[in-house]
Amino acid sequence: MPRAPSMLRPAVDLSASLLAWYDRHRRDLPWRARPGETPDPYRVWISEIMLQQTTVAAVGPYYRRFLARWPDAAALARAELDDVLHAWQGLGYYARARNLHACARAVAQRGGFPDSEAGLRELPGIGAYTAAAIAAIAFGRYAAAVDGNAERVLARLYGLRTPLPAAKPRLRACAAALVPAARPGDFAQALMDLGATVCTPKKPRCVLCPWRAACRARKLGIAESLPRRAAKPPKPKRHGVAFWAVNEAGAVLLRRRPADGLLGGMMEVPSTEWRTKPWRDREAQRAAPFKAHWRRLPGAVAHGFTHFDLELVVLAGAVTGAAARDGLWVSPERIKDQALPSVMKKVIAWAQSAGPAA
Ligand code: ADE
Repeated sequence: MPRAPSMLRPAVDLSASLLAWYDRHRRDLPWRARPGETPDPYRVWISEIMLQQTTVAAVGPYYRRFLARWPDAAALARAELDDVLHAWQGLGYYARARNLHACARAVAQRGGFPDSEAGLRELPGIGAYTAAAIAAIAFGRYAAAVDGNAERVLARLYGLRTPLPAAKPRLRACAAALVPAARPGDFAQALMDLGATVCTPKKPRCVLCPWRAACRARKLGIAESLPRRAAKPPKPKRHGVAFWAVNEAGAVLLRRRPADGLLGGMMEVPSTEWRTKPWRDREAQRAAPFKAHWRRLPGAVAHGFTHFDLELVVLAGAVTGAAARDGLWVSPERIKDQALPSVMKKVIAWAQSAGPAA
């Protein structure tokens, strides 16, 4: 375990001043227990999963809808996976929603959440950060939950110039040295709030910071340039073809993607494999779900995934008779009821704006 850098001030002073700041400036967020309330592990868990890769502002409405529909783990465990995916639509990273459902089932079966970091870590979709966050926030356990906000705050406090991701173990050690035995959950949330509202990526508001006197980066005048990040390699590009098939009744062909893999279990406009090499028209025609007069729509749909950028060419075809063996014909007004990822919503919008398929 790497050691935390030497302190400018004792850890107890730093955690006490942060907690005092939190008591005055904590954000009132829907999943947070108010002072004196007992935190609900289910709420904490749902919020932490939703907040991975998504902002607090974007999560709010999803969180409220989710809680109104599935108020506890038992209710979520009874839900159909498709309904959960549908409710998740727009939050992205759908593996999270599938894991959420699997996790609810595991929790319902064992009769509640495990109350330790190690126990939480064994549940589907709960990684190191999330286990620490739930253990600290929901169960008051000593645990260091270090997300992107906390990394930024700590890199600045200690003036750590090692770039991310190499700096991660060191930053975790810094956090672990600061977590107070009492109120570890409030400490975790205080660090998040400080990062979100004061120690912001651009133009940090250092005058408002409870750690301003101790902050090395502020002293050195380099706060805004931290944390450093290693240059990312450029994202690879992938190419695919989507088939926009419309039948005589105006219904559109959709199908379900395989359960495992990217966007697993979600609906799609049937598409080819997404590969490195662009598809030639003739090749794409052979990969179509059935023979038709396929017309290439001008341009292409672009979508950025975490690990690659996708360019989807859309071929439109009008269909007579029962042409497709598998898939679902969906009328335009029912498309919104399907669990469609953002990339497929783009394809649909694009195809619909291009006019009739014939
Ligand atoms: N980001 C991740 N978890 C959070 C939480 N519990 N409160 C605020 N922001 C967060």
